[in-house]
Amino acid sequence: MPIRLSVLNLSTTWDPTLLWYARAVAVMKTRPITDPTSWRYQAAIHGYSSQMDPLRVAGEAMPANSDQRKYWNQCQHQSWYFLPWHRAYLSFFEKTVRRTIQSIGGPSDWALPYWNYSVSDNARRLPLAFQQINLPDGSPNALFVSQRSPRANTNQTLGTSADSSTVACLSRNRFINNGPIAEFGGGRSGPSTAAGVSGACERTPHNTMHGAVGGWMGAFETAGLDPIFWLHHANIDRLWTIWLNSAPTRTDPTDANWLNNFSWDFHDENGNPVTIRFNQIVDTTSQLLDYQYEAISAPGVSAAGLVGAAPGGGMSRPDSLPEMVGTTRSRLTLGGDQTDAELALQPPTGPAAGAGLTMSAAEPANVHLVIEHVKAASLPIESYEVFVNVPSGEKPEDHPELMAGLLPMFGVVESSRPSEGHGGEGVNYSFDVTEIVRELNARGAWDPAAMRVSFVPHRTPGDREEGVVPQPVEVGSISLYLEK
Ligand code: C2O
Repeated sequence: MPIRLSVLNLSTTWDPTLLWYARAVAVMKTRPITDPTSWRYQAAIHGYSSQMDPLRVAGEAMPANSDQRKYWNQCQHQSWYFLPWHRAYLSFFEKTVRRTIQSIGGPSDWALPYWNYSVSDNARRLPLAFQQINLPDGSPNALFVSQRSPRANTNQTLGTSADSSTVACLSRNRFINNGPIAEFGGGRSGPSTAAGVSGACERTPHNTMHGAVGGWMGAFETAGLDPIFWLHHANIDRLWTIWLNSAPTRTDPTDANWLNNFSWDFHDENGNPVTIRFNQIVDTTSQLLDYQYEAISAPGVSAAGLVGAAPGGGMSRPDSLPEMVGTTRSRLTLGGDQTDAELALQPPTGPAAGAGLTMSAAEPANVHLVIEHVKAASLPIESYEVFVNVPSGEKPEDHPELMAGLLPMFGVVESSRPSEGHGGEGVNYSFDVTEIVRELNARGAWDPAAMRVSFVPHRTPGDREEGVVPQPVEVGSISLYLEK
């Protein structure tokens, strides 16, 4: 069975795994966009817009409109289909690359490597092979993309450890969101209608690392054109396996709407149409998928971490409805500077009654910050840092312990356009702030009647060209929820 290897463990820059990948990508790039096994067609399955197509050739033949509608712009985000859809997409891509490699005399068991950027700061440097302009023989390197963040191709670390962190997502105990509370995989939805709260793994590290690489990786319509996209998604897919294996109580959805009721269209490695259901992709060692990961362990995942993650009760307790205890009354606009929002809080009277905002041991509760309808018309700052109760007059950067997480912008522009199948309602995220609120309470800095949320642009030096004015981001609402 082909093994997906860690790109960080490959012994040389041009290990055969990457050299064959580069050669196959070069071949796929020579195929016309009408060929389902071409590089551009494969990327268009995720997203395509002729206005945004950087490789567009005036007057070129395009696939029939009916084919474009059926096979292109299919990426599933902001729902429980995010992980399975991308798993299937990656698998057919991997088979297509493997077939291409075989056709030019390479091995028959090539598998997509994964980019495990979460293990150290150095791991957030783009793997060296992707930074080289040429292959060892002097020919152009098809893995190189000049449009990335300036840091990416100059061997600098991308983003910060907050971008690559898996702590928040791997500490979720369920796959399916509980209302607006993000769990690992995302919320229930029908296909292509998703406008829910993104799953925890989709927010970080998935969306954040898209932003950290930048360039084509920053938009649905171009992301698949960057060869690193596929290694990033192999890692996200691996995280799903890690999450699932880390406790017997962690399971995939068993709902028919996830497993059986809908079918999904792709092309196989010969360019022939194939239709699958997600019950066919839950086992990566099946004959259809046929791959395994070199390693399925992750820093910070331990039994202790899992137990601590559910203060409200055991992992098998039934979902209790989350109750909103405060929300902003007006929209907020984020720009290039810090923006603050104040929330008035009321004690819960509904499903979370008895779970006190006082955070006393007698009234245990999980506390979640939910940020909804995040919209932007054009590409904003790649992400914002979200802080809770930074004392007035003090700087958020001096209070890393009060950071709830990153609010990434990947997909925000796409999800703000009503016409394009990604909702038009913007992006929604939730952040588990239970530990932060407990900590504030312990030091006497928690007011059960009010809280402040601060948004600070998440900047790493050089991540935007000088002089580029950040485009405004609109936040529809900020709410606090209690979950018993
Ligand atoms: Cu459909 Cu990483 O994106």
